[in-house]
Amino acid sequence: MRKILVTSALPYANGSIHIGHLVEYIQTDIWVRYLKMQGHECTYVCADDTHGTPIMLRAQKEGVTPEALIAKSSEEHQTDFADFGVNFDFFHSTHSSENQELSELVYNRLNDGGHIEKKTITQAYDPEKEMFLPDRFIKGECPKCHAKDQYGDGCEVCSATYSTTDLINPYSAVSGSKPIEKESEHYFFKLQDFEAMLKNWTQGGHLQEEMSNKLNEWFEQGLKNWDISRDAPYFGFNIPGTTDKFFYVWLDAPIGYMASFKAYCKQSELSFDDYWNADSEHELYHFIGKDIIYFHSLFWPAMLHGANLRTPTAIFAHGFLTVDGAKMSKSRGTFIKARTYLDHLNPQYLRYYFAAKLTAKIDDIDLNMEDFAQRVNTDLVNKVVNIASRCSGFIKKRFDGKLAASLPDTSLVEEFQAAQSVIANDFESRNFSKACRHIIALADKANQYIDAEKPWVIAKQEGSDEHLHAVCSTAINLFRLLMIYLKPILPQMADNVATFLNEPTQQWSDSQTMLLDHAIEPYKPLMTRVDTKQIDAMMDASKEDLVAENSAPETELSKDPLSPEISFDDFAKIDLRVAKIVDAQHVEGANKLLQLTLDIGGDSKNVFAGIKSAYAPEDLIGKMTVMVANLAPRKMRFGLSEGMVLAAGPGKKDLWILSPDDGAQPGMRIK
Ligand code: 2FM
Ligand code: ZN
Repeated sequence: MRKILVTSALPYANGSIHIGHLVEYIQTDIWVRYLKMQGHECTYVCADDTHGTPIMLRAQKEGVTPEALIAKSSEEHQTDFADFGVNFDFFHSTHSSENQELSELVYNRLNDGGHIEKKTITQAYDPEKEMFLPDRFIKGECPKCHAKDQYGDGCEVCSATYSTTDLINPYSAVSGSKPIEKESEHYFFKLQDFEAMLKNWTQGGHLQEEMSNKLNEWFEQGLKNWDISRDAPYFGFNIPGTTDKFFYVWLDAPIGYMASFKAYCKQSELSFDDYWNADSEHELYHFIGKDIIYFHSLFWPAMLHGANLRTPTAIFAHGFLTVDGAKMSKSRGTFIKARTYLDHLNPQYLRYYFAAKLTAKIDDIDLNMEDFAQRVNTDLVNKVVNIASRCSGFIKKRFDGKLAASLPDTSLVEEFQAAQSVIANDFESRNFSKACRHIIALADKANQYIDAEKPWVIAKQEGSDEHLHAVCSTAINLFRLLMIYLKPILPQMADNVATFLNEPTQQWSDSQTMLLDHAIEPYKPLMTRVDTKQIDAMMDASKEDLVAENSAPETELSKDPLSPEISFDDFAKIDLRVAKIVDAQHVEGANKLLQLTLDIGGDSKNVFAGIKSAYAPEDLIGKMTVMVANLAPRKMRFGLSEGMVLAAGPGKKDLWILSPDDGAQPGMRIK
């Protein structure tokens, strides 16, 4: 029995899980489920990545503690993962005692080994907020095209790249003040000490070929020592021996893999040291996205080696997800949150579709919505499920729900059984698309067999009971084998099939047995067809998520942790009016929006507002709110929206508008 520890990258605690993230979690989960079915001791751990400036600032903005923010995220993330069938053995947090203890251990060992150096560096500092500013919190005018409000690392208008010091009139995105240069002592991990070790390790079969090539480029450019400290204020762990220096989030994030496993060891029989000691012979795999290869293939093995711990057996990187051939986009409705997907579609569809596209390579994968519906409907509903639905009725009606005691011809079943080794190899090598192709080719054969035998014709022939029983029992056995092979991909459906077949647990080795003389349960529909209306509704709801998130432009939402500063002139342009809600209606097909008719002092405005989670329409009629009256009208699928209403609160049920009796009159200007 192999002993294997597997991780997926730790999601940041300040954002929702979306379908782009799910590529990796589904990929890892399929692999882990397959290894468990093979009877190995395989443990899958993950955690929320909770530290850093963006999380600290987001918590401040929401008026909560970082601890409260990460607790809420953790709950949401875990529910999303569970609903997609992503089955961690343990899900922890990097803000945990285990992680603090292990981060200090790794740091102290690196320090004792002479691998930490201190250096004074100059950095941008926000004098008003009294904090150093990471690059993404500095904005200003593009030095090339002079577009305003561009980020420090590059211009979104002309695509020029530059450094923050090149920005014209730079300002802090946190306070709006002009950053000053300030010196501070930083701690560096001496990556250069590990050059020989890393050259050796990266060529040692631990990485995909494409990754090794990338690494050669990095070696040619020369390794740079890594800044692992950040100054207060910072949400993270103090560096031992200091009060105002903190570990940079990327130092303690991968140690979070160890910490999650350590916490799991406390409640299981597993030994932490057996897995992490330098001489461990157990296997350790990290699944990651291609954007974080540097951290995992250079910093991480060097840190582990320098701290006298084991290095990973392999790092598996995957590409990004595109939707309909393009980057996920909030305005096109293709930036789909896990929860929005779950509100409309069966998670198993996506698990299957991703599996059907995933290889062991780092290529991006595309979710094409038309192909998605067609692939799921053709492969799973028409080909796989159809086998059971076509034959189980006869078993129930004619043979008292019992499969035949023997089959006159087992050659096809044996052919399916023999396929286990090639399919197992596809799973082991993470070539899930090949596994799907092999399984669906078998499903085609099963359907050809049923088409040739025509049980519905045999059923009408006198004296053919035995033949009918054999054909249907063969087909059910073929179906059973397909579902054993699909179980890592479709665990929820496999569970329902286990109930139908009256056979509770299915291991990979069960593919070598047959179900004979065995009572099965009545067939219940296992999967319905993807309806393209559900896909459209999901994409519309994703656009609504955007409206509900204040209709900020995409770049602001995706990159800027705080709203950008506006000038007084900008502010003066906003016409804020008290508005009376004279009518409120549900919007057909919208989950989050209500249609409001507003009276702003004689003038009537139609507005779609994302406040359905907090109010029933009838509760709103007669209430007052504040509206942005001069916002350019916006054409939505449901009609024209002629403004925005202002509501305050953390969201969901907690959103407040004005109360009716505070003296406000429709049309009053807000000053
Ligand atoms: O890129 C990210 O989303 C990081 N939160 C991944 C961390 S993975 C590991 F190193 F912890
Ligand atoms: Zn520019």
